[in-house]
Amino acid sequence: MNTAAAGDSRPIGVFDSGLGGLTVARSIATGLPRESIRYFGDTARCPYGIRSADEVRTFALEAARWLETRDVKIIVIACNTATAAALSTLQRLLPVPVIGVIAPGARAAINSTRTRRVGVLATELTVASGAYACAIQERDAGVTVSSCAASSFVDIVERELATGAHVQERWLEGRDIFDVPSVHDEVARTVAPLREAGVDTVVLGCTHFPLLAGPIGRALGPGVRVVSSAEETTVELEDILARRDQLAPADAAPEHRFATTADNIAAFAAAGSFIFGKPLKSVEQVGITELEELR
Ligand code: DGL
Repeated sequence: MNTAAAGDSRPIGVFDSGLGGLTVARSIATGLPRESIRYFGDTARCPYGIRSADEVRTFALEAARWLETRDVKIIVIACNTATAAALSTLQRLLPVPVIGVIAPGARAAINSTRTRRVGVLATELTVASGAYACAIQERDAGVTVSSCAASSFVDIVERELATGAHVQERWLEGRDIFDVPSVHDEVARTVAPLREAGVDTVVLGCTHFPLLAGPIGRALGPGVRVVSSAEETTVELEDILARRDQLAPADAAPEHRFATTADNIAAFAAAGSFIFGKPLKSVEQVGITELEELR
């Protein structure tokens, strides 16, 4: 009897409002090294976190439809804001499975908390949606959730990476480029309400925030664990693909390809390589008009 699974070597589609979702793509590439990834970053329309839910839903649908034209086998919304605004819409409208990052983030928080007091750091739109509090309390209604909007953290990350000064460096390898006094001050000011709330776990509910995990952890103090959704998302992804017999076969040659609405592809590739941990070798530009035609 032939027991070898046929598998599915088509890529996993991943999208975000810009570069931040590469924190999730990096985790997928590390955890599922045989899988190919098609990443789409809507840099030209980033940030999503200060837009209306309707607008974010429209952009998310365009991104997902664009990935669909690239024959992906599953779509990961690697953006908390887009997950909050559009997950159920995309699940209803697309023929492939779609997962978001909020349920995995909520799971990571539940697994971590001992005191059942959890903090959420996210963009304004994600906090206003209440999606994290809902996802956490669905798993344990007795958990107290304190949420804090920290959209300025997105600007800190984008601004620093846009300087192009870090082309030779890689996130999580070597020095922490965000370990500087100006970042510490802004982070400490923003997370103060979570310190006051006495949480023992803070979930980073925005894909940019893992890059600031160092300063955030220091500002919260040693008694507080900082968790993110990236690893849990990879676990969920593997589980779904395994159940559907769609993991890439053992002899698959993984290919990572990237697309962005950014005008400056070189800058996207440089900043993206810093986050992804490897050079972004294949980056294409996608025009907004092309996306709008997919609505
Ligand atoms: N990627 C977004 C998120 O995870 C943050 C950046 C934005 O506001 O677009 O919520």
